[in-house]
Amino acid sequence: MEEEVGESLATPAVELVDIWKRFPGVVANAGAHLRVRGGTVHAVLGENGAGKSTLVNVLSGVYRPDEGEVRLGGMPYRFRTPADALAAGIGMVHQEFRLVPSFTVAENVVLGAAKRVLRRGDLEERVGELGRRFGLATEPDRPVWQLSMGERQRVEILKALWRDARILILDEPTAVLTPAEAEELGEVLRHMADDGRSVIFISHKLHEVTGFCDEATVLRGGETVAASLPVAETDAATLAGLMVGATPLTNERPPSRTPGEVRLGVSGLRALGDRGLEAVGGVDLEVRSGEIVGIAGVAGNGQRELAQVVAGLRPATSGTVTLDGADMTGAPPRARFAAGLAYIPEDRLGVGLAPRLSVVENSVLRTYRGQRRGPFLSGSRMAAHCRDLVERFGVRTGPLGDPIAGLSGGNLQRLLVGRELSGRPSVVVAAQPTRGLDVQGVKAIQNLLVAERDAGTAVLLISEDLDELLTIADRLLVLHDGSIAGEFDPASAERHAIGEAMVGQAPETAP
Ligand SMILES: Nc1ncnc2c1ncn2[C@@H]1O[C@H](COP(=O)(O)OP(=O)(O)O)[C@@H](O)[C@H]1O
Ligand SMILES: [Mg+2]
Repeated sequence: MEEEVGESLATPAVELVDIWKRFPGVVANAGAHLRVRGGTVHAVLGENGAGKSTLVNVLSGVYRPDEGEVRLGGMPYRFRTPADALAAGIGMVHQEFRLVPSFTVAENVVLGAAKRVLRRGDLEERVGELGRRFGLATEPDRPVWQLSMGERQRVEILKALWRDARILILDEPTAVLTPAEAEELGEVLRHMADDGRSVIFISHKLHEVTGFCDEATVLRGGETVAASLPVAETDAATLAGLMVGATPLTNERPPSRTPGEVRLGVSGLRALGDRGLEAVGGVDLEVRSGEIVGIAGVAGNGQRELAQVVAGLRPATSGTVTLDGADMTGAPPRARFAAGLAYIPEDRLGVGLAPRLSVVENSVLRTYRGQRRGPFLSGSRMAAHCRDLVERFGVRTGPLGDPIAGLSGGNLQRLLVGRELSGRPSVVVAAQPTRGLDVQGVKAIQNLLVAERDAGTAVLLISEDLDELLTIADRLLVLHDGSIAGEFDPASAERHAIGEAMVGQAPETAP
């Protein structure tokens, strides 16, 4: 009882009071509030575009609010730059990582931090030690370009801890993680909170919020619709309702159909990874018309490379890839696209979209080459095509002539998926297509893939979200260490058996 009174009287570690932030044509924060106590993990929830990133960017000094106040420990602060915020103890783990790929883990961790110069070996040891203290396993001497997304994230977290951030902000950190990695991250975050730090955790995955957060604040349309709800006193359905302002979505499996002829064939496929080691070690699979074949696996087990080889972006060292029976093993990406392949890459910005080009240009980026035969694509036809995509796929965007760099992750993905599917493909390879999207965005993309399947397309869905695969895949293959480690029927498979295959334990050793 006494403790409760003491806590409620304690000054919050962080207060954001009546924050307004406008961008051209958009009010991103419309009087938002956030109060975070020290020693807690605080979830910030909200649909895509709700203003979550903007709000925490105000706290981290990236944006200056048009109105409103930032208080730390009850004192008002005005940050002009992220460096100001960092000096006040606020560390941000960004949604899009900001690491130098050619530097090592240790170099990236200390980069820009005002600390005395250390010898390389000492530096690596200190960084390794810091990681161990918080349960963050890393290899300090590895260059960052070699790391998986999950590993890069650990480096970003270490960067903040190295600077002794008391307040850590993680903007959708689990979007790039496997379920197991996400669970591990939860433990790391608890560790940091138990250490007296405040952790602000942005997520769309409600089970994570109920799993390891203490309190939750929900944003909708730039406003705070629920502030500092004690997570123990609420549930996922309530939170989902607050986020979308409507009844929560269900996870029912759409009915399967009988698959038709083989459209994508992969046989004895081998390929090297970025480090020159074998990443795909002899994969055989077939995807038929009218089925979704899911590939499950822990990040870094060859999924990315497999998708790239099928798309023609990485050479096969042996084996074959066929599309509708035609050998495409050595064909360039363009030939594959012309043969009916659509590719939704894991790497949205860079491979899928060009950040500096406009929404219109990005909406035709891939297809216009194929349309060169006809009359030149006119500006008005491009704009009409783009408007159609934006409308059909629910892309929230400013003026269509502006660069896509300002769009949020979910909107970028809708644009990319819309563009790929509008080409009427016969085979779709989708790599982590719903990563980082909000509840409705996830559902929208999943529904699109199911609709593609029902229209007779063969869909290869690579996902680290097992729930997603169990919901929409018709067959499930597990990739472990570059090979297929098991095949499951998603309608009847046991999660723990799939989990064992994901970590390389042969199914026959299960009881
Ligand atoms: N730099 C920016 N320029 C223009 N509009 C932006 C910018 N950042 C965010 N927005 C817009 O503000 C709204 C809120 O975005 P954001 O804070 O990223 O939401 P969330 O993180 O909840 O998805 C969205 O409509 C988004 O498109
Ligand atoms: Mg965001």
